[in-house]
Amino acid sequence: MKMIRIAVMSMVAVGLLFSFAAAKKHLPEERGKTLFNDTKFAGGSKACNDCHQNGKGLEKAADKKEFNIMGKAQKSLEEAVNFCIVNANKGKAIDVKSDQMKDMVAYIKSMKAATTGKPGKKAPGY
Ligand code: HEC
Repeated sequence: MKMIRIAVMSMVAVGLLFSFAAAKKHLPEERGKTLFNDTKFAGGSKACNDCHQNGKGLEKAADKKEFNIMGKAQKSLEEAVNFCIVNANKGKAIDVKSDQMKDMVAYIKSMKAATTGKPGKKAPGY
C-alpha cells in the first residue's frame, strides 16, 4: 500500500514539474512572437514582422497612449494592433480581450524591455 502511495505521489510530482517546464516555454510574449511572425495571423496575408522586422518601429509602443498609423488615430495599443491587422495584414480585427491580443501585447511590451537601458539609441523612423 505504502509503495503505491509513494509511486502515485512521485508521478504527481513529475507531472507538476513537466507542466511548469511547459508553462515556462510558452510565455505570453513567446506566443505573441509566433503570432507576430505568422503570415496567416488573424486571417491576413502578411506577417507583422514583414514590416516591423524584429519589432522595428514598435520599441516605444508599450508606453504610448495614443497612436497614429497611416494618418488615423488609435487610442490604445490594442487598437493600434487591430488597425495594422486590418489595414496592413489585411486580416480581421481580433477581440481586444482575447488571449491572442494579450500575447501580442505582451510581445510588443517585451520589445521595450529589450531596447531600454541603451541611452542614445533611438528607434529609426521616428
Ligand atoms: C504593411 C506593413 C505593416 C504591417 C504588415 C504591420 N504594420 Fe504595424 N505599422 C505599420 C506602419 C506604416 C505603422 C506606422 C509607423 C510609423 O508611423 O512609422 C505601424 C504602426 C504600428 C504600431 C504603432 C507603433 C507606434 O509606436 O506608434 C503598432 C503597435 C503596430 N504597427 C503593430 C503591428 C502589428 C501587431 C502587426 C501585425 C498584426 C503590424 N503592425 C503589421 C506598418 C505595418
